[in-house]
Formats: sequence, C-alpha cells, structure tokens
Amino acid sequence: MADTERLICASDALRDAGPGVRFEVCYFGEPTAAFVVRWEGRVYGYLNRCGHMPMELDWQPGVFFGVEGRDLVCSTHGAVYAVTDGQCLGGPCGSTPLVRLAVAERDGAIYFLGIEDDG
Ligand code: FES
Repeated sequence: MADTERLICASDALRDAGPGVRFEVCYFGEPTAAFVVRWEGRVYGYLNRCGHMPMELDWQPGVFFGVEGRDLVCSTHGAVYAVTDGQCLGGPCGSTPLVRLAVAERDGAIYFLGIEDDG
C-alpha cells in the first residue's frame, strides 16, 4: 500500500446504510475521489469511481446506497455493487468491481490505510 494512514472522520459521522463520507486519495499519482460507508456496523471504503466509466457514484454528495439501503448504486447508469467487497452485482459494470480501500476504525475514528488493490 502506497499511502500512509490518515484520519478520515469521526466514527459517528457514519450511520448504518446512511450517507458516506467523501475524501480524496492519491491513486497512481493522481488525486482521486474516495468514500467510506457503514454497513451492518462495519466500515467499507472504495474509490468513488464506477467500474463502467470513470464517473463518481453518488446521487448527491455522500449518497451511495440505493433506495433499499442495501447495495451501492452508481447514479449515472445504475450499476449495482456489493457494499462488502465492491463486486458488481448488476448493470453495466460487468465484471469490474470497485477499487477497495483499506480502512480501520478505532478509538471513535475512521482511518484510511491505503489502496487494497495497489500491491
Ligand atoms: S458510469 Fe456508473 S453505471 Fe455507467
């Protein structure tokens, strides 16, 4: 993982299946949008970049879950991703998953640790 640990937000900024927190990471040398969300108590982080086209997913800033509050949905053409691993569940993303981030939650705060798929 190329990036060093840094604070994203306080733990209470994320509600289960609620709005995510957007932030930025360095991905292959470029500032790239990213986000964290909470699902069933755990925190998950991804690049905010659809597998179909390099578009940000959120409907409105921070709104990543679909109306059922279960899966992550891209607002552009409706690709659906599993919140737990970023795999494409349907729509135009085909077999391309979201890029996962390593994140950690401790002492009431959420930290970015690096890009999971960055070697
Ligand atoms: S850009 Fe996300 S589904 Fe097309």
